[in-house]
Amino acid sequence: MTTDIVYLNGEFMPLAEARVPVLDRGFIFGDGVYEVVPVYSRNPFRLGEHLQRLQRSLDGIRLANPLRDEEWTKLILEIVARNSGEDQAVYFQVTRGVAPRAHEFPSAAKPTVFLMSNVMKTPPREQVDNGVPCITSNDFRWLKCDIKSVSLLGNCLAKQLAVDAGAVEAVMFRDGYLTEASASNVFVVRNGVLLAPPKNHLILPGITYDVVLELAHANRIPVETREIPEQEVKTAQEIWVTSSTKEVLAVTSLDGRPVGDGKPGPVFRRMHALYQEFKQTVMRRAA
Ligand SMILES: Cc1ncc(COP(=O)(O)O)c(C=O)c1O
Repeated sequence: MTTDIVYLNGEFMPLAEARVPVLDRGFIFGDGVYEVVPVYSRNPFRLGEHLQRLQRSLDGIRLANPLRDEEWTKLILEIVARNSGEDQAVYFQVTRGVAPRAHEFPSAAKPTVFLMSNVMKTPPREQVDNGVPCITSNDFRWLKCDIKSVSLLGNCLAKQLAVDAGAVEAVMFRDGYLTEASASNVFVVRNGVLLAPPKNHLILPGITYDVVLELAHANRIPVETREIPEQEVKTAQEIWVTSSTKEVLAVTSLDGRPVGDGKPGPVFRRMHALYQEFKQTVMRRAA
């Protein structure tokens, strides 16, 4: 993976030259928020929605947005132009800045703004065709999972449990109900109905989650947004994970047991095709 040019606090520079002081609250406290925007043919996908979610996350940690949407847009287009690859994933983060270490907010710190862009890696064909193994895990994270915080230790621990088990994601449950996975949202299909956990403080409001629900509604796939008990997930015909970089991916085994018949199901195949088609249409319009 190559990240050539990054942006840090007003300047573009090679990644190897980018430096943040050790007292940055992002480093000391994980006090910051971030976004990842997929870019297809050098056009950011759903950028407005990502910028809205950034604002929501900043509001959630009581940090003023250091840039206006037009400024973010300009920076994002510029980082895309300065890096290689037609399809990229732009990462951008804001932390509360550098200040003597004290838990309470500093009165006069300047937020740290950082952007980088990597070549976009969507799931390989093999994973799309065959699905991926996942494990289940207790959701031991905090109660503000709707904030896209850089404090991702809970998510990292869950992801590592999955990797240790040879799986791709950890599908998490809190108090017996489905929340999300360590780096993706989760959908379930039962009896032809697409089930989605509600958007609340227990999950990240995924941009891909919204796209999937929009496509389901537009194509008359029945949808229910409601709390989903663990047992309903474990006996579902289909389970999917979604994110900006994974797009829509079928989970074909959970804790070593096959999901449905162990192959990506018909509703997944339809949604995957709809998603690809939608992406192409949006990108054609943007070009
Ligand atoms: C915990 C978590 N949930 C959900 C998602 C999916 O969000 P999006 O579709 O906006 O990428 C992500 C993405 O990284 C995530 O980290």
